[in-house]
Amino acid sequence: MTSAHQGLSGLLDTEAIRKDFPLLDRTVHDGKKIVYLDSAATSQKPRQVLDALNTYYERHNANVHRGVYTVAEEATALYEGARDKVAAFVNAPSRDEVIFTKNASESLNLVANMLGWADEPYRVDHETEIAITEMEHHSNIVPWQLLSQRTGAKLKWFGLTDDGRLDLSNIEEVITEKTKIVSFTLVSNLLGTVNPVETIIRRAQEVGALVCIDASQAAPHMVLDVQALQADFVAFTGHKMCGPTGIGVLWGRQELLEDLPPFLGGGEMIETVSMHSSTYAPAPHKFEAGTPPIAQAVGLGAAVDYLSAIGMENIARHEHAITEYAVRRLQEVPDLRIIGPTTAEDRGAAISFTLGDIHPHDVGQVLDEQGIAVRVGHHCARPVCLRYGIPATTRASFYLYSTPAEVDALVEGLEHVRNFFG
Ligand code: ALA
Repeated sequence: MTSAHQGLSGLLDTEAIRKDFPLLDRTVHDGKKIVYLDSAATSQKPRQVLDALNTYYERHNANVHRGVYTVAEEATALYEGARDKVAAFVNAPSRDEVIFTKNASESLNLVANMLGWADEPYRVDHETEIAITEMEHHSNIVPWQLLSQRTGAKLKWFGLTDDGRLDLSNIEEVITEKTKIVSFTLVSNLLGTVNPVETIIRRAQEVGALVCIDASQAAPHMVLDVQALQADFVAFTGHKMCGPTGIGVLWGRQELLEDLPPFLGGGEMIETVSMHSSTYAPAPHKFEAGTPPIAQAVGLGAAVDYLSAIGMENIARHEHAITEYAVRRLQEVPDLRIIGPTTAEDRGAAISFTLGDIHPHDVGQVLDEQGIAVRVGHHCARPVCLRYGIPATTRASFYLYSTPAEVDALVEGLEHVRNFFG
């Protein structure tokens, strides 16, 4: 730690933590140590998760809920054990409220389709409205557009303020008596903004609308308590929180999951099937057709154990310190414009910016030559770029293993980019 880092408090022991993440040790471009600043896209995986995946495949691999033999029972216990771990991680009142999906996109599509096929009082139709925001990831826009096109429901959204926050000044026009569902992100993947959940939920409850929260950029970084949130559905993904790809979660309130229809049909989600009709298994199985992502769920369970052992409050504190430092240091770079909140208050650890008129793809490429991995583009949130009149951004995002020295490396790297492009 240099003298510039002395004032930073709340940092984790990253020296110890980084030893758990094999990839962070590798080099690129002739020996340059990797500076991984793309955890908002996907996090790196600790050895504990990699070991859990290997052990599962080497010792316990079988299909779940089917076999009567020992290994199949072990596989089922591991898969269902992962559900217990995730339920505890988000403080779900019941393990049956945790549905495993492939990713957060699938979780959000599942909610949209449940409502699209539902009977009253949940049905979304041409007389009803759907409310989202302009800062959503495409995965929380497109499913609602599809639902709106299919049903004739009106799609409305909150706009954004110049400083990257939700403009809630017209909340009563966006969420009305006709609104059936309000779906929004807890933390923006592009802007980093943490949204005022309580205000939105209060209004949704006033008009009797359901609330769905995209917690993809929240679950890895902060305490996520679905009971405290008071939403009806919460979606997130495993691979951004130290878990493997191919596993997502939809938490839903039990009575809703009992009432709402399934989306995908197939094996494992039924009670009985005849050639004329079928009845369905209770939730969560009603929503998990086919062989589920077993190893991935086991890996996610190991990730939850790993994060819980460090403590989500401690992770949040670490990221807050790093974000505060990064926001301050980045603003020292001439011509750099942060797209999103310029303080660390109510913001997550993903920081998007532009650098003069240098195209973000060029920024990303020159940074990569120095071993610095950032994401460039519209980050699957193109409406945000349109709102701010920019084609793309460069985004640096931090996690529990990120260090102040990596922030310094980014700032130096950006100086190099500026020199490179004159
Ligand atoms: N949703 C991921 C991101 O923001 C992929 O990068």
